[in-house]
Amino acid sequence: MNYLCCPVCGQTLTQKDRSYRCPKGHSFDLSASGYLHLLPANKMHSKLPGDNKQMVSARRNFLQKGYYQPVSDKLNEVIAASLDSKKAPLLLDVGCGEGYYTSRLENSLSNQGFEPCVCGMDISKLAINAAAKSYKSVMWAVASSFDLPVADASCDVLVSMFAPICMEEFHRVLKKGGLLVFAVTSTKHLWELKEAIYDEPYENKKEDHQYEGFVFEQNHKVQSMIHLPCQEDISNLFTMTPYYYKSSVQTSQRVAALEQLDTLLDVDILVYRKL
Ligand SMILES: C[S@@+](CC[C@H](N)C(=O)[O-])C[C@H]1O[C@@H](n2cnc3c(N)ncnc32)[C@H](O)[C@@H]1O
Ligand SMILES: [Zn+2]
Repeated sequence: MNYLCCPVCGQTLTQKDRSYRCPKGHSFDLSASGYLHLLPANKMHSKLPGDNKQMVSARRNFLQKGYYQPVSDKLNEVIAASLDSKKAPLLLDVGCGEGYYTSRLENSLSNQGFEPCVCGMDISKLAINAAAKSYKSVMWAVASSFDLPVADASCDVLVSMFAPICMEEFHRVLKKGGLLVFAVTSTKHLWELKEAIYDEPYENKKEDHQYEGFVFEQNHKVQSMIHLPCQEDISNLFTMTPYYYKSSVQTSQRVAALEQLDTLLDVDILVYRKL
């Protein structure tokens, strides 16, 4: 399926062996682990944009333990229910991180007899390398959500889990009637963690549900308590949240002092259809 585009000139990329090439001769090779680097140097704002090594490994270790599996299961269920035929849909997960949701989605749809073509993109080379090393049935590429190297109107489903959203790009790459599914943290997400580490915890804001060119279909709420039995899991969870970036020494010390924690998972999976 030729949906990948050259990040330099925008023309279609065609695969020959381990190389992808556009008609103008720009060429991109699969890395040793099996991903494509489709983020030109002049569009990188830093040497290693996106999540760093520590965040990627915290997310990998935490998600592998299944704490967020209810979110992944709901995502898979919502998408399978929306695909009306089993003929090779193209699904794109943008800001896919180290590929936990992407690979489970591919696996779940394949097991149900869909023949999905699944592609995960993230601006973090470290995250994509980790994904490509572990999951071989998905196409992986380093790319930005704000300039997707993907053909117009090519995707049946676009997924964005807790990642930056660019509605113009999502609209451009989706087919008419295609599905946009994105997960956001809801008001009480990780409330008990926040109570334990902040003097004045605040609730997350509610998302605006209207986007031009899309019709809002449904909000699938996922709410469940998770029990974290050890300090390592609590630290990993904290490291994969946005709170980690701006944490003070006092906050980090409070996180390090927590031996176990029961906290709420409160996630909205929002479903839109492209008009
Ligand atoms: C909170 S993480 C979520 C990762 C994954 N979706 C998950 O839920 O496990 C946000 C991800 O967005 C990526 N990211 C940040 N800016 C991006 C951009 N402009 N384009 C693509 N990915 C981006 C980060 O590298 C990171 O992997
Ligand atoms: Zn080109």
